Amino acid sequence: MSFTILGTGSAHPKYVLTNDKLSEFLDTSDEWITTRTGIKTRYISTDETLCGLATSASRHALEAAGVGAGELDLILVSTLQGDCLTPSLSCMLQRELGAQCPAFDINAACSGFLYALQTAAAFLDSGRAETVLVCAAEMMSKQVDWTDRATCVLFGDGAGSVVLKKGSGLRAMRLTARGDDRDLLVIGSHSGNNPFAQVQYPAPWLSMAGGEVFRFAVTSMVHDIRTVLEQSGLTAKEIKYVVPHQANLRILKAAAERLKLDEGQVVTGLERYGNTSSASIPLVLDELARDGRLSRGDILVFSAFGGGLTTGACVIEY
Ligand code: ACO
Repeated sequence: MSFTILGTGSAHPKYVLTNDKLSEFLDTSDEWITTRTGIKTRYISTDETLCGLATSASRHALEAAGVGAGELDLILVSTLQGDCLTPSLSCMLQRELGAQCPAFDINAACSGFLYALQTAAAFLDSGRAETVLVCAAEMMSKQVDWTDRATCVLFGDGAGSVVLKKGSGLRAMRLTARGDDRDLLVIGSHSGNNPFAQVQYPAPWLSMAGGEVFRFAVTSMVHDIRTVLEQSGLTAKEIKYVVPHQANLRILKAAAERLKLDEGQVVTGLERYGNTSSASIPLVLDELARDGRLSRGDILVFSAFGGGLTTGACVIEY
């Protein structure tokens, strides 16, 4: 059972931050960033809110799907952190869209879109929903330390949405979590103004053991994709597109090589968007759909990895 993707949408802030602009205030260069990551530009929020980006992406997806907000039975939003901790971003989005259905957020870092798809599938399969909006919206510009050249150059802001209805498009799904490796990628928090607090939380911006996350990313992508292909009885040749989490071009190339995928099978958007965490898959998926590169029946593989550490992969018949 599970779902069919009825429509997609995406949104990003208007300000384009180039590598050259970054090197005006950081000890970095276009050459370093391009050769180590493949990233050339990213969109950074100035006067945009995350709710605004999520709303815009979701309106586009509803329009593409020909579905009204009143027809939604569930809204799921994948985000590391919305504009507020509460109300959730999904509740803020529900209000903006004028929907009446239940709504909640999911945080599985960069793998969150796949965790949200699996949750949507469970609601659809159990008959508790007929039509679901899944949105992934991230404002990484709020989560990074803008004085740390090793991390802030990697990220950008954006949102992507899909409208799902009951169907048979989800052929296989694998999700993993490795809490033992939680310290490799951390965005901390603060203790508020509790005068009794004795706990020192990690700093409220992103820190990452880049090399270790890199190796984990390649290994898990390869293993997850092989597993879902096996589960669905398909070979790598039968995939039209792999739509991966967009973290680093070198990760994608290394994984593609091991999986014996052609260059054209792996879709990239990180040259323009940077790493937008869980929004990166639906952002790139929407580009594919709008460019007319997707046809009904195409086999798509999504693959993600990120903080937690979490990973996920799925096979979808579009
Ligand atoms: N400009 C110039 N030099 C830099 C920069 C920069 N922006 N950043 C780091 N350097 C320097 C380092 O200081 C180091 O210098 P040193 O040799 O003098 O010590 C040198 O460049 C090499 O640094 P490395 O960290 O070894 O560089 P590497 O080639 O490993 O690339 C990177 C770093 C891009 C972070 C890579 O490790 C990576 O992509 N890791 C995976 C990240 C990822 O996948 N994240 C996904 C999850 S994100 C999420 O879940 C929210």
